[in-house]
Amino acid sequence: MTDLPEGVERRTFDGQRRLATRGEPVYGEPTDEGWRLWDAGRSKLAAMVESGLDVGLDGGETVLYLGAASGTTASHVADFVGPTYAVEFAPRPVRDLVGVAEGRRNLVPLLKDARKPASYAHVVEADVDAIVQDVATRGQARVAVENRRFLRDDGRLLAAIKARSEDVTRDPEDVFEDALDDLRESYEVLATERLEPYHDDHLGVVARPK
Ligand SMILES: C[S@@+](CC[C@H](N)C(=O)[O-])C[C@H]1O[C@@H](n2cnc3c(N)ncnc32)[C@H](O)[C@@H]1O
Repeated sequence: MTDLPEGVERRTFDGQRRLATRGEPVYGEPTDEGWRLWDAGRSKLAAMVESGLDVGLDGGETVLYLGAASGTTASHVADFVGPTYAVEFAPRPVRDLVGVAEGRRNLVPLLKDARKPASYAHVVEADVDAIVQDVATRGQARVAVENRRFLRDDGRLLAAIKARSEDVTRDPEDVFEDALDDLRESYEVLATERLEPYHDDHLGVVARPK
């Protein structure tokens, strides 16, 4: 079994061993002695970990998080890595994200469009260790390619690709193949896993810059 990232443990919730991170609760999630449930059904990155992908995080990394929404997953990530730049382009969830960041000095909310990396290049430090991407929008591979500029040469892209965001009519496997082909413009794909049963028609991808 793949090692859990540093700062992520399995704890018992309702009699089941589930992923957990240490920190203040954010969205009413169950807690256990300072640890809070990191639910793979609510988080693509947690589902990637549960699916056995080696996400390569040891704690302390600098992370660029694309598609932060209201900060559910970004809050867990910020609790076990270092500086976390969280990009989200929808103003309403960013209001919640700002609240989540108030208790986390290493979490930096950015109301920005991940398709326009130049608009946050002055804020995000160069050579981040990992890009976590969950944008669920058309052109997901393009977003990853455009943001490769922030990633150090041996860093990791940890992306969830949602088939239905690209094309609801096509076979998800075909959509994933096309997305991986597009990613290969800038990345070497190291591993992929489907994220069922946690998330239907999603592919978890671990890649490194070429
Ligand atoms: C599936 S949700 C993210 C959930 C979040 N990652 C979590 O686990 O808590 C996808 C988010 O990506 C955002 N998004 C989509 N396209 C984006 C873009 N171009 N730039 C920034 N955010 C984007 C959406 O507004 C939405 O909040």
